[in-house]
Amino acid sequence: MTDKTKDNGGIKSLLVDKSIAADVREKLLESELLNLEYKPQEFERNIALPITSEAALMNLDWFSEDTHSIASLPLSQNIGKCTPAQAIAAEIAQLFDDEAVAITDDMKELLPTKWDLFGDLAVIPKESLNSPEWNAVMKSKSGFEARVWEIICRNIKVNRLARQAEIATDNLRSSQVTMIYGDSGEVEFIDHGVKFYLDVTKVMFSSGNVTERHRIGDIDMTGECIVDAFAGIGYYTLPMLVRSNAKQVYACELNPNSIQALTRGAELNKVTDRLTILHGDNQETLPKLRNVADRVHLGILPSSEPTWRLAVDCLKNSGGILHLHMNLNDSEIDSFTKYCIDVISDYALQHCDFSSVSLLHVEKVKWYAPHIRHVVLDLRIE
Ligand SMILES: C[S@@+](CC[C@H](N)C(=O)[O-])C[C@H]1O[C@@H](n2cnc3c(N)ncnc32)[C@H](O)[C@@H]1O
Repeated sequence: MTDKTKDNGGIKSLLVDKSIAADVREKLLESELLNLEYKPQEFERNIALPITSEAALMNLDWFSEDTHSIASLPLSQNIGKCTPAQAIAAEIAQLFDDEAVAITDDMKELLPTKWDLFGDLAVIPKESLNSPEWNAVMKSKSGFEARVWEIICRNIKVNRLARQAEIATDNLRSSQVTMIYGDSGEVEFIDHGVKFYLDVTKVMFSSGNVTERHRIGDIDMTGECIVDAFAGIGYYTLPMLVRSNAKQVYACELNPNSIQALTRGAELNKVTDRLTILHGDNQETLPKLRNVADRVHLGILPSSEPTWRLAVDCLKNSGGILHLHMNLNDSEIDSFTKYCIDVISDYALQHCDFSSVSLLHVEKVKWYAPHIRHVVLDLRIE
């Protein structure tokens, strides 16, 4: 039971005599009016059954004010019985009921059922509670909007909320996320032992790339020098320094907001001495990194192709590994892999002193769109 629920005077419950409690509970379940987020509880000779809507209950045929009474009572939460999304839906229905405000099915459809978590801040989808109907209801009563956000925050277990938006089409991949509850979009969080920092309103964070971030961090890079050509806030740079134990990472990045976040992330992980940030377009910064790298990471979508040759030039004369990110049609992965090896072999063998290019691994990271996969090709160049 949270303090906030106590402030509201408890959980709306139907009080019935113990002898009929089991039957009434069944009927509430059938009518989808039993609030599964809370546990039924004994009060003297009565059992309190938590409900989701007082108005809907009073409309039922079997409800009689002579044998049933409704009260707000301090019930305990039914931990494990209800998902946070179900609890949000139930508590918001209860709030609307208490306040005699109508909630339509279209509005219920827009309640959040998923979100991205960054420490104590959650980013909900762009369509969540985002419609003319929702906008009008939120402003209809003083303090109502804050109570809705409080319910969502409490059930997601965060203090701040932001709403997702399309990522800007600029090449900086700027975030257009807006804060809806709480002031600051700055977050610090830990993923697989790596600390990250960012301002969710300024830069995007690819949470869908989590498996790839972990895969890269699992590779032993002890003693290696790495070039990360699209470093962002350090999605791969920081795992390579912290988990893979890279000797040095050269991080190329265009966006000053991402560089600020990467700098802070490096401080938090105490790896600043092994990180060199090159601010600017990597078409200009990569040529400054000729023959320094054991490994080059090209984490950009939809295509990393414009940087392939520059990446080969970054490798030491002894060769190394390239990680090339691409969005590919599922049916074209094999033919594209062959094309990629042909293009890179052509350059590496004819214009550099390398003698072979081989495919180490194809990682299918995630579906990006129908039939389109985010793929990473790992190539060895010797
Ligand atoms: C998709 S984000 C990369 C994030 C991370 N690698 C990932 O996959 O989660 C791409 C990053 O590359 C940067 N970027 C795009 N074009 C660039 C360029 N030509 N030179 C340097 N950085 C660039 C963007 O500012 C952005 O931070």
